[in-house]
Amino acid sequence: MNDVRIDDLPVRDELRGKSPYGAPQLDVPVRLNTNENPYPLPEPLVERITERVREAARNLNRYPDRDAVELRTGLAEYLTKTGKYPVGVENVWAANGSNEVIQQLLQTFGGPGRTALGFEPSYSMHGLIARGTGTGWISGPRNDDFTVDLAAAEKTIAEHRPDVVFITTPNNPTGNAVPPETVLALYEAAQAAKPSMVVVDEAYIEFSHGDSLLPLLEGRPHLVVSRTMSKAFGAAGLRLGYLAAHPAVVDAVQLVRLPYHLSAVTQATALAALEHTDTLLKYVEQLKSERDRLVAELRAIGYEVTESDANFVQFGRFDGKHGSHEAWQRILDRGVLVRDNGVPGWLRVTAGTPAENDAFLDAVRELLSVVGDTPAPPKEQSA
Ligand SMILES: Cc1ncc(COP(=O)(O)O)c(C=O)c1O
Repeated sequence: MNDVRIDDLPVRDELRGKSPYGAPQLDVPVRLNTNENPYPLPEPLVERITERVREAARNLNRYPDRDAVELRTGLAEYLTKTGKYPVGVENVWAANGSNEVIQQLLQTFGGPGRTALGFEPSYSMHGLIARGTGTGWISGPRNDDFTVDLAAAEKTIAEHRPDVVFITTPNNPTGNAVPPETVLALYEAAQAAKPSMVVVDEAYIEFSHGDSLLPLLEGRPHLVVSRTMSKAFGAAGLRLGYLAAHPAVVDAVQLVRLPYHLSAVTQATALAALEHTDTLLKYVEQLKSERDRLVAELRAIGYEVTESDANFVQFGRFDGKHGSHEAWQRILDRGVLVRDNGVPGWLRVTAGTPAENDAFLDAVRELLSVVGDTPAPPKEQSA
């Protein structure tokens, strides 16, 4: 019964020999590896969720609102309030996490015979969801300091003429933001080449020093901004992602969405969370200052740190026999789980509570004294 493996099944060729995405879920005292918000939801919000879910439970014999109109209206209000750009219900679509939003976008605008492009290292699920939807994946370049090399990016777009271009800002796992003028230039390049859809993944935008790129939607029907409640709203377990775009894009993704994809329980919970936006955004302020503290202290210890506009920090560089995986293991041995994203020489740590961050900083300080070495000196960085 247990002797059949994946590759013995008639799976699609492009899935053969592949492993599923997933960071280790280890039971250790300090978990700073998946860019979650470390603060549990405040008790009044938990109460409100309970009330709203109880109400929804009375109608679970019925399918939920297929178009999630009340929720999309609430999300549109949130975006209008925080994004410096008026967004209406007709501009917003929601799904089970921004991963599902991305999947629906690729099902709509990618697919067999089409391609999507991202500038790597970046959020690896863009490429994996592309694969899952039969979309070809093109890995675009970044500079050594993880900024997007505009000239090289424009060249890649012109050469490959992708159907979908992903721009993650702030970028995961590096943390740095892409300047709005670069996003605009890439949009223009993508329109000249194809025209393609440009998806700006703003999963971490609430933690940024800069503003959302929502105002760029004006007059750009091929632009999509994707968002999530998993980070700033502290609701990764809820699974709620959303996008803002021209109403035609919202109509288009409905061609591929499963009917009733957002459960009544999900919609009720997300609506409760939106009622508590102001409180939740106060946690974001705390996390931003903890993020800035991590950057400053890591630099003071002697690490190289990538500028961060997110709720995590990329630090290094580890090389030789003290490579990043060994450093990851040594930090784990001290009870702190960070992320080895496979970017050679670098690790990523999520900003946690002050106590969790102290535990992490102690671990990386000890790491240096135990290894008896300093991080490798910064390499020459290209412009
Ligand atoms: C850049 C980026 N986009 C999207 C997501 C997915 O978020 P969600 O939990 O909404 O599916 C993540 C999660 O880590 C992310 O880093």
